[in-house]
Amino acid sequence: MDRKVAIVTGAARGIGLATTGLFLDDGWHVAMVDKDAEALHAAAADLGEVTAIVCDISDPAAVDAMVAEVTNICGRIDALVNNAGEADFGPIEETTFARWRFVMATNLDGTFLVSQACIPALKQSRGAIVNIASISGLRASTLRVAYGTSKAAVIALTEQQAAELGEYGIRANCVAPGPVKTKLSMAVHSPQIIAAYHDAIPLNRYGSEGEIGAVIVFLCSEKASFVSGQTVAVDGGFESTGIGLPALRA
Ligand SMILES: NC(=O)c1ccc[n+]([C@@H]2O[C@H](COP(=O)([O-])OP(=O)(O)OC[C@H]3O[C@@H](n4cnc5c(N)ncnc54)[C@H](O)[C@@H]3O)[C@@H](O)[C@H]2O)c1
Repeated sequence: MDRKVAIVTGAARGIGLATTGLFLDDGWHVAMVDKDAEALHAAAADLGEVTAIVCDISDPAAVDAMVAEVTNICGRIDALVNNAGEADFGPIEETTFARWRFVMATNLDGTFLVSQACIPALKQSRGAIVNIASISGLRASTLRVAYGTSKAAVIALTEQQAAELGEYGIRANCVAPGPVKTKLSMAVHSPQIIAAYHDAIPLNRYGSEGEIGAVIVFLCSEKASFVSGQTVAVDGGFESTGIGLPALRA
């Protein structure tokens, strides 16, 4: 394939789907990966020339088969976007081990597994990894013991990848999105949580899928050729800010 190839996990909807569209706009080919076969095939049909592969990224054998299929079909992998994620919000005392493992299996194990399986192809392309964490991995909050811990681990994993894989010319970076209205967030953001985010975000709004995707695509591109090991919070200013915004607005 002449065009650069990106794998985007969790590409059937939300941030992954928007990121896929932005890669296509920039002339990349995209291998869209998701465990939701129906949503994936519907999204891929709308986009035209993409490679759509159904895969649960928490399953090591399925991951190996998926990466082999992308390599066979596309011949190269220039970027990997580990975007697939699960959210489950609950108090620490009510977070069963099964709920904890469900979140870790996709957010942390899946990111590790897909990255590892892509290393041979990324070595050849001197390519890039972008892992999607969250502001919940940068700052602790209530109800996010599993989700926030998984995302903090993704930030640490990114730094490990940058440290070791730089020897091969592979860059690894992380995007930590602030709140975006997607199926994932709307399932766990109560009206109180939505109000709390507005209170804590200088730009006083949720972000859009495209605003997150633009930074992901930048970090995968040659424009970011000397950027590695970084976490970029795309969050309307949330991470940089402490108390005072509601008083300022009043
Ligand atoms: N939406 C937000 O407010 C927000 C904020 C911070 C971080 N994030 C992160 O952004 C990423 C994308 O989230 P989104 O809001 O677009 O969610 P979404 O629910 O709209 O999309 C996530 C996609 O991942 C897929 N997926 C989930 N588990 C999978 C697995 N094991 N294997 C393969 N595919 C799987 C789902 O089927 C879905 O299509 C996630 O990592 C999420 O944690 C989202």
